[in-house]
Amino acid sequence: MMKPIVFSMPGNELLSESILIGLEGERGNFTERQFPDGETYIRILSNVEEKEVIVVCTLHEPNPKLLPLFFICKLLKDLKARSICLVVPYLSYMRQDKQFNSGEAITSDYFAQLISSFADRLITIDPHLHRRSSMNEIYSIPCNVLHSAKLISSWIKNNIQKPLLIGPDSESEQWVSEVAKDAGAPYIVLEKLRRGDNEVEVSIPQTEKYKDHTPVLVDDIISTARTMIETLEHLKHAKMKPAICIGVHAVFANLAYDELIKAGAKEVVTCNTIPHNSNKIDVSKILIDSYKNQ
Ligand code: R5P
Repeated sequence: MMKPIVFSMPGNELLSESILIGLEGERGNFTERQFPDGETYIRILSNVEEKEVIVVCTLHEPNPKLLPLFFICKLLKDLKARSICLVVPYLSYMRQDKQFNSGEAITSDYFAQLISSFADRLITIDPHLHRRSSMNEIYSIPCNVLHSAKLISSWIKNNIQKPLLIGPDSESEQWVSEVAKDAGAPYIVLEKLRRGDNEVEVSIPQTEKYKDHTPVLVDDIISTARTMIETLEHLKHAKMKPAICIGVHAVFANLAYDELIKAGAKEVVTCNTIPHNSNKIDVSKILIDSYKNQ
């Protein structure tokens, strides 16, 4: 395998360093800054000619990240890089995958077309594939989709006694059932009704028989945290023990993290697909293995 040269977009330094070490790669050096008018300046300082390039760029709050990412990829190609593999641990714009009202943009399609136009390959973790069964339905470049379930279940096994895994909605069943199987723990899945961006209603589960278990909420994304907060409320009414909240992707819009703690979460645990204080589960190994085994 050719040793890759690894470029870290701002904010991805920790994960990029692990990937760099794991692949015994070369560090890609570049400067990125903003002109006073807000436009982006980019200069690549490393020689990338004929090299396999990895660009690490997680894509929460994606809009301001996208244009610099596009520029660097275009520049890499102009400087004759052999290939560009994007490592995007959290892939945004996956949730708007359907036109709910006439005139609405299916942004997951547009976003996928754009990314596919300037990169050769993409590696990501637990993308929110809901109404779509595979990334190939929207991305025209090869995509390696990795799963954090095994990492989450070993964290649970090592840290929680008598866990009861809880999926807040039917969409979460895919992660929860997988995690529960590996953790050797029971699970239940609730019904969720989303009434608006910040308004979520969750049905009361049959919790009586799990009173002495520690509830562990598992979901792919924690964004406004309304889904988890609503679930916590119901668990409190059902007099369950304080719950641990595990999300793959720590999106945490605005004050969501503080609100989740205030709502009574005993602990909030996430994977390091998005840098956050709650990161306790390291995904670097599965990213490295995936790149090696391409
Ligand atoms: C839903 O489709 C996802 O699986 C998550 O349940 C959702 O994104 C969580 O969003 P929020 O934290 O805003 O309730």
